[in-house]
Amino acid sequence: MKAITVEPRKPGTARLEDIPEPGAPEGSVLVEAIAVGICGTDVEIADGKYGWAPEGAKRLVLGHESLGRVIDPGPRKTLRPGDLVVGIVRRPDPVPCPSCAVGEWDMCRNGKYTERGIKEIHGFMSERWRIEPEYAMKVDPSLGLLGVLLEPTTVVAKAWEQVAAVGHRAFWEPRTVLVTGAGPIGLLAALLAKQHGLEIHVLDRVESGPKPELVKALGATYHSGAATDVGFQPDVIIECTGVGAVIADSLRAVSAGGVVCLTGVGSGGRVGTLPIADMAAEVVLRNNVVVGSVNANKRHWYRAGEALARADRSWLARLVSRRVRPEEFASALKREPDDIKVVVQFSEA
Ligand code: BGC
Repeated sequence: MKAITVEPRKPGTARLEDIPEPGAPEGSVLVEAIAVGICGTDVEIADGKYGWAPEGAKRLVLGHESLGRVIDPGPRKTLRPGDLVVGIVRRPDPVPCPSCAVGEWDMCRNGKYTERGIKEIHGFMSERWRIEPEYAMKVDPSLGLLGVLLEPTTVVAKAWEQVAAVGHRAFWEPRTVLVTGAGPIGLLAALLAKQHGLEIHVLDRVESGPKPELVKALGATYHSGAATDVGFQPDVIIECTGVGAVIADSLRAVSAGGVVCLTGVGSGGRVGTLPIADMAAEVVLRNNVVVGSVNANKRHWYRAGEALARADRSWLARLVSRRVRPEEFASALKREPDDIKVVVQFSEA
């Protein structure tokens, strides 16, 4: 079967090639791929900056934002042929650490977790893939191709849970949210904020095009300046850019008692000579919390599934801005100006 594979840490090695059918040890559920979303992590892996091949292998099957159709549900009858499913990305570490031991693999403490398409287990960019039944999440069939948005939605479902957990350390009545970055994660974070009934503001660099339109269509306010120039102090900032200057502005812009949740994985981004102690003093005097959030456990997958099922389909459909065939995967890895979510489509939904 055809698969998109890469030799991790070697830039430019991604290719479409024939690989053997997935073997039984990979899971008792056999799935036909429909689509796989591309995110910044995939681009980093293809650029040789991130990623690990399975033990004993040189290459890794790419892809962690899956959507597929069950061909064979295997002996456990929790799924039926034809069900639309998305594969959970992370697997607990084998030790296991206390977090993995209780199913919170997203909070793994020793870093020995594995991730499909990212860290030591093959991903979903192959015509067929196998999965363990307990890691196959059924999606609302009416979502069709939009089920491919489930994985990025789990990431923001977890981020929101983190913000709420931190917020409840004191009296907590958040009203305003600023999301920095109007990519898929930012827009999905805004969608969840909307569902929570908050006043939403989204900030990005661009001044026109699909991003401002999607923000307005959600009933939110779009800004294209700095976080410090939005004209109010947000109770919550969900930072989705990973850009140093935007992060620094977010720390300055958040309200007293406010929470900044970092979801972007950037690098470098030195911002002049940041006066760390001065910034820390502000954080102390205003009781701020800066919380990092990565990945998602089953609770977040469940919540994300509910959120997507409730969302307006035509708005969600506008997030999937480009679909490419597996043979054209290289073009999917190159960002175009109006891209939101690019997906590699293997078959019809
Ligand atoms: C994925 C997460 C993963 C993280 C770090 C993100 O792109 O969505 O599931 O934990 O990368 O590898």
